[in-house]
Amino acid sequence: MNYPTPHIQATPADFGQTVLMPGDPLRSKYIAEHFLQDAVLVNNVRGVQGYTGLYKGVRVSVMASGMGMPSMGIYSHELFEVFGVRNILRIGSAGAIQPEINLKDLVIAMGASMDSNYQAQFHLMGTFAPICSYEMLQAATKSADELGAAYHVGNLLSSDFFYDDDAGVPDALAPKKNWQKMGVLAIEMESAALYLNAARLHRNALCICSVSDQLVRHEYLSAEERQTGFAQMMQVALETAVKLEK
Ligand code: HPA
Repeated sequence: MNYPTPHIQATPADFGQTVLMPGDPLRSKYIAEHFLQDAVLVNNVRGVQGYTGLYKGVRVSVMASGMGMPSMGIYSHELFEVFGVRNILRIGSAGAIQPEINLKDLVIAMGASMDSNYQAQFHLMGTFAPICSYEMLQAATKSADELGAAYHVGNLLSSDFFYDDDAGVPDALAPKKNWQKMGVLAIEMESAALYLNAARLHRNALCICSVSDQLVRHEYLSAEERQTGFAQMMQVALETAVKLEK
């Protein structure tokens, strides 16, 4: 496969070794404008803005994944396979399903379980366990320790369902109870596809989420509070990118 791709109008040289991926294209623009120096727009197909700039002298890119595994599947595949990106660091939000996790805490996904059929394409005669890059996990936990961030490391659930027919209102946790019993920390919608693509293409991936919803205690961040949690996650992500540079 060659560049440009159907979804990314850029060249491999346009991207740094590490791409930070929020879900939201406008968040990608915000990060480029507030956290990177000399950021240049490198992609804008479908409004999925990708930027490359400098953080502490290291070239770092940021581009949105969109929501859900099909969208993350497309962008991570193209970045790894066509644009030669080495590391993708998803920076998202998640709903915590364990009671001890607080709003704004970070959840770092050692593994990503799923209720999706995404891995069927790999024709495995069994069930693959999507896991993060150990190198990226080490760099991220070291950065989180240095910054004094409250974080939890463990399993995420990447779900295809934000609105679940069984959920009823207001108990969004009900259909996910069995995942909670298995010790899964939080729910989001993209990481498993990212980890599967990284495994298949022999690249590195990690997801860090900021907890925006506490589904056990029915606590939810206000729009303003979402920004605070987000700033700390950004610091951890950018320091991680610096540690990964070689
Ligand atoms: N479910 C799925 N994705 C999410 C949630 C949630 O409750 N909160 C933030 N991202």
